[in-house]
Amino acid sequence: MSITTTDLKVGFVGFGTIASAIATGFGIHDGSKSVSFSHFHVSQRSAAKSQALLAQFGASKVTVAESSDNQVILDSSDLIFLCVLPEQLETVLSQLTFDPDRHTLVSLVSTSKIDQLIASSKLPASRVHKMICLPSVATHDGTCLLVPPSPPLNSILEVLGGCVQCETEDIMTKLMIPACLMGPYYAILKNNRDWLVKMGVPVEDASYFVGRTYLGIAKDAEAKCRDPKGFDDLIEEQTPGGINEQSIKNLEKLGIFGAYDKAMDGILERLTGKGSGEC
Ligand SMILES: NC(=O)c1ccc[n+]([C@@H]2O[C@H](COP(=O)([O-])OP(=O)(O)OC[C@H]3O[C@@H](n4cnc5c(N)ncnc54)[C@H](OP(=O)(O)O)[C@@H]3O)[C@@H](O)[C@H]2O)c1
Repeated sequence: MSITTTDLKVGFVGFGTIASAIATGFGIHDGSKSVSFSHFHVSQRSAAKSQALLAQFGASKVTVAESSDNQVILDSSDLIFLCVLPEQLETVLSQLTFDPDRHTLVSLVSTSKIDQLIASSKLPASRVHKMICLPSVATHDGTCLLVPPSPPLNSILEVLGGCVQCETEDIMTKLMIPACLMGPYYAILKNNRDWLVKMGVPVEDASYFVGRTYLGIAKDAEAKCRDPKGFDDLIEEQTPGGINEQSIKNLEKLGIFGAYDKAMDGILERLTGKGSGEC
């Protein structure tokens, strides 16, 4: 049986930060989307999180495994999310028997490789996936990366906020790079705030105004992000001869965008283990 988007029985092996975020996101999906979850089976591990899911959604939706044997989760689920730490992966997989006619495996383990997951699970390649997301999927504000593509899984993961299906693990690695620029984004906000304070603006006003202004800017960008030319259009919309247009030119002249390219090269080098990532 292949995976369907109705009456899904979902199992979580390992129930820490990321598993609990995914299960919560699935649990609170508004039902207007064309996916229905019939039940969640979760590890008793990380008891505070598994018990919190049970308390939130009730026993009709959630079962917390009574034993530490992860096989019971597989035996009652179709779609299995593997959410243990990298060092636990091999041992946990070696103790599981997957049903090639029933199970689809999605590994959240950051270091896992598709070939290794296929070999260990003995599932057909079409039923083995790797996924990356952040805990913000709990509130449907995350965007999942999935490899290899799967239209039914994509529909299920869209419930969490969005999903990009990657043709290869290499593409998935490259798509992780913008998430590694979260720190620099906050550093830009801090830089703007500090400059304003230096110019005499009260710090509370500077901090509040910078945060809210960039939020509005990000919302406009998000509204356009399904259009491959959306960001170009937003740049094009800047008043000709205006200050924003000049700011782009000034930053170009100062090498800021080239520096971003180099920083992204560095992140890729580090993610692929080809170097320290230092520019
Ligand atoms: N956190 C994130 O934002 C994030 C994002 C993307 C991907 N990931 C990946 O997701 C995986 C989990 O990360 P996490 O942050 O959720 O870690 P975590 O909070 O430490 O969760 C790991 C879970 O695995 C459980 N566990 C350990 N040994 C087990 C076993 N033998 N059988 C069943 N469960 C077992 C732990 O239970 P106990 O607590 O009882 O030991 C815990 O529930 C990692 O591989 C990480 O790379 C995490």
